[in-house]
Amino acid sequence: MEEVARALAASKSAVAFTGAGVSAESGVPTFRGAGGLWERYRPEELATPEAFERDPDLVWRWYKWRQELIYAADPNPAHLALAELERLGVLKAVITQNVDGLHRKAGSRRVVELHGNIWRVRCTSCGREFPVEKPVGEIPPRCPICGGLLRPAVVWFGEPLPRGAWEEALSLASSADFMLVVGTSGAVYPAAHIPRIAKRNGAVIAVVDPGETALDDIADFKIRGKAAEILPRLVAEVRRCLT
Ligand code: OAD
Repeated sequence: MEEVARALAASKSAVAFTGAGVSAESGVPTFRGAGGLWERYRPEELATPEAFERDPDLVWRWYKWRQELIYAADPNPAHLALAELERLGVLKAVITQNVDGLHRKAGSRRVVELHGNIWRVRCTSCGREFPVEKPVGEIPPRCPICGGLLRPAVVWFGEPLPRGAWEEALSLASSADFMLVVGTSGAVYPAAHIPRIAKRNGAVIAVVDPGETALDDIADFKIRGKAAEILPRLVAEVRRCLT
């Protein structure tokens, strides 16, 4: 922990890369592993364009359920710690695979959302995008302009990542000298290229996760534990290094 804090405090362009584990203690279930969403629901039945075409009601029921969980969720100490690192001038940005918006809610300002955001919807007919403030009501929701079927503006399996977010993440990863990887299995590509690109460009990689991850092979440091416990301690250490 101390060594990681020292390296982080000394870095010039540190970036965090986060996954579902960072929101676990806010009550938002992860996708893989014990209690993961995918254990109860098969992703290919829900998070694909084909599934939506086949059964938009089923897909929307699932997203409505997730929206309700997220609506009731608050940022946890892990989100707050990352926001604090940005305020301290230590962290340049958070690149996240999460669609829950909790990093922004915690106060992080530069957040790159690789997989979209569950609080936006897009019309499958006219292509317009709208923000939504609350879990959807009637299912499936319809476009207020053209009456077309609305879909969540999130990335599904087989779909490309939003270009702007991807390019920003690539640029941050290529120039990062430290990457704090938190709560991701590192199993989903292209997102998981991001820490690998940072590593190739010379960044120090620190992985915080209670389990094994597919990114452990590139980790210079591995801190095993829950993000909401580890990250506040890391921030306290970084503060000590800065004074
Ligand atoms: P996963 O569910 O694949 O991985 C969650 C990770 O969080 C695992 O490595 C767990 O060990 C770890 N974890 C669990 N509890 C934790 C805690 N309290 N603190 C820290 N870590 C914890 O989630 P992602 O890697 O985010 O994509 O999954 C990547 C993508 O797969 C998601 O964005 C989603 C999914 O398909 C799309 O929907 C496109």
